[in-house]
Amino acid sequence: MSDPASSGSTSRERLSVSDLLSIQDLTPEDIQLVFTVARRLKKAPGEFSLSLKGRTLAMIFEKPSLRTRVTFDVGITSMGGHALFLDHSDAKLGERESIRDVARNLERWVHGIVARTYKNRSVVELAEHARIPVINGLTDLLHPCQALADYFTLGEKMPLDSGVRLCFVGDGNNTCHSLILGAARLGIHLSVASPAGYEPNPEIVRQAMRTAGATGATINISRNPREAVRGANAVYTDVWASMGQEAETEDRAAVFADYQVNGRLMELAGREALFMHCLPAHRGYEVAPQVIDSPQSVVYDQAENRLHVQKALLLLLMAGEAL
Ligand code: CP
Ligand code: NVA
Repeated sequence: MSDPASSGSTSRERLSVSDLLSIQDLTPEDIQLVFTVARRLKKAPGEFSLSLKGRTLAMIFEKPSLRTRVTFDVGITSMGGHALFLDHSDAKLGERESIRDVARNLERWVHGIVARTYKNRSVVELAEHARIPVINGLTDLLHPCQALADYFTLGEKMPLDSGVRLCFVGDGNNTCHSLILGAARLGIHLSVASPAGYEPNPEIVRQAMRTAGATGATINISRNPREAVRGANAVYTDVWASMGQEAETEDRAAVFADYQVNGRLMELAGREALFMHCLPAHRGYEVAPQVIDSPQSVVYDQAENRLHVQKALLLLLMAGEAL
């Protein structure tokens, strides 16, 4: 595959998929293409200011968002397009009318859809029925845009090869699942430490294991955060109670008490280890303020890179013959 950054071409480079539903659907070459285009967009944002002229992105959100909503809106606007926010916090997708009908209507008016839903099945169903690209903007199961931006961020800090050791401490949730699938695709060593009953979904781990063999990745799921972080180049955590689990916040705070990423845990990882978090963060719970607000923390780089990586996705999925 030629390098769009050096060839000057992006539109002729294609992803092997027409939607972004899960990192599992991307080949390692797809991920490298996204990263190559994202690097170019980050370096020269003005170069693509008309690439999505006249294109409209519908953004369906059942759950709150700062980063995903703003970066997709700013991203498409900066390339000449327009975002339309469809608030589904009251009526979930499929309640007022079928998801199939939503898809069959939207495809007549807009050129792409970003959807943040509770059920992963809702995003999959949208994609099944819409003949326009559908991007998963987070579900209860997956958060692919986040993990792509996270690995892009890691790649800015160190060569993204089989030498990278990432450790995820905490809930085996949507962010964790997409990091697992991304590690398997990229050949990265990932260790996850979660309390009993909060491990990553075994089916996601199985999916990842099926591809890990080919890329040399290792995925290790364990209980003990102090053992899991040893030798890690980066330690990642996320909230203990995700959106939709607010009623469990107190119970989870007790279960996860030993899983806080604090100075002592970071010391076990090593002096150079980076700290990562998808945000929003709860200081004093999953992460100590001294860690997230330290020079080792790259959380705002991750947040910035959501913009560049998602612009690359929009360009690769929605530019069509426009360039
Ligand atoms: N990390 C992330 O997706 O943030 P938002 O929930 O604010 O979009
Ligand atoms: N796991 C978190 C991620 C937020 C970006 C949640 O789903 O709320």
